[in-house]
Amino acid sequence: MNNKVAIVTGGGSNIGRSIAHTLGREGAAVIIADIDEKQGDKVKNEIELFGGRAVSIKTDVTDNDSVEAMVKKVLELFPTIDILVNNAGWTRDLLFIEKPRSEWEKEIAINLWGVINCSRAVLDVMIGQRSGKIVNLASDVGRVGEYKEAVYGACKAGVIALGKALAREVGRYQININSVCPASTPPVEEDSYGEFSLWKEMAGLFTPEIREKARKAYSLRRLGTAQDIANMVVFLCSDRASFVTGQAISVSGGYTMV
Ligand SMILES: NC(=O)c1ccc[n+]([C@@H]2O[C@H](COP(=O)([O-])OP(=O)(O)OC[C@H]3O[C@@H](n4cnc5c(N)ncnc54)[C@H](O)[C@@H]3O)[C@@H](O)[C@H]2O)c1
Repeated sequence: MNNKVAIVTGGGSNIGRSIAHTLGREGAAVIIADIDEKQGDKVKNEIELFGGRAVSIKTDVTDNDSVEAMVKKVLELFPTIDILVNNAGWTRDLLFIEKPRSEWEKEIAINLWGVINCSRAVLDVMIGQRSGKIVNLASDVGRVGEYKEAVYGACKAGVIALGKALAREVGRYQININSVCPASTPPVEEDSYGEFSLWKEMAGLFTPEIREKARKAYSLRRLGTAQDIANMVVFLCSDRASFVTGQAISVSGGYTMV
């Protein structure tokens, strides 16, 4: 990853934080593009503490102007954009018929429009470079459907399809686009998620009983860790995955096998 420039949306919490750390450890310059500036700055400092290079740019992925301003700033600081990890996401588990429309809209704005805005904003740069990697954080719920995650699952299925379509359109420019579908991956450290994190609501809903039920649904009989997910994301961002594109890869201990 030496000399690579990587944008991680939502890099201030949990999985995004771990992806940012891992990219930073592997030598990339990491841009943490999170709406939560406090968390973004914190992760930037953590990366710098172990000798990595990082920048935190407050970004709202649902706002195209904010996304374009972030990309402009990155290009003022660095000559290339080699990697985009579309990680920012949000949901709250609730039955479809009980969920207010405002929450569907928030889910669609962050999980789907966010990926569309950020992908569009970097593609001209990547096409010009004739290289690039985009990795989307989707979810197994976008592959198999899940109770209380209807619209969120629809967004994640949309992200997978978007990634496949774009992979076909821009593959000729040596741009690889893939999606990673994590299992339940709760944060382990109390301070590893901020006020915009989905875990603010979900931590309370993810009771010990539900956690145990989830654990048993995985063939490997454990939940995911943020590092499990980061390992696959960083592999897909690397030259070792240069012939992998348009794929959705589950990192979910065998929860789904499709
Ligand atoms: N953790 C899981 O169990 C799990 C499972 C499947 C898929 N995923 C997906 O993986 C990704 C990361 O999950 P996580 O558990 O780390 O989530 P998280 O909520 O802890 O972190 C998401 C980050 O995105 C940021 N964010 C929220 N809205 C934003 C916006 N409008 N613009 C920019 N940043 C914004 C938050 O501040 C936060 O730092 C998400 O896309 C999620 O849907 C997570």
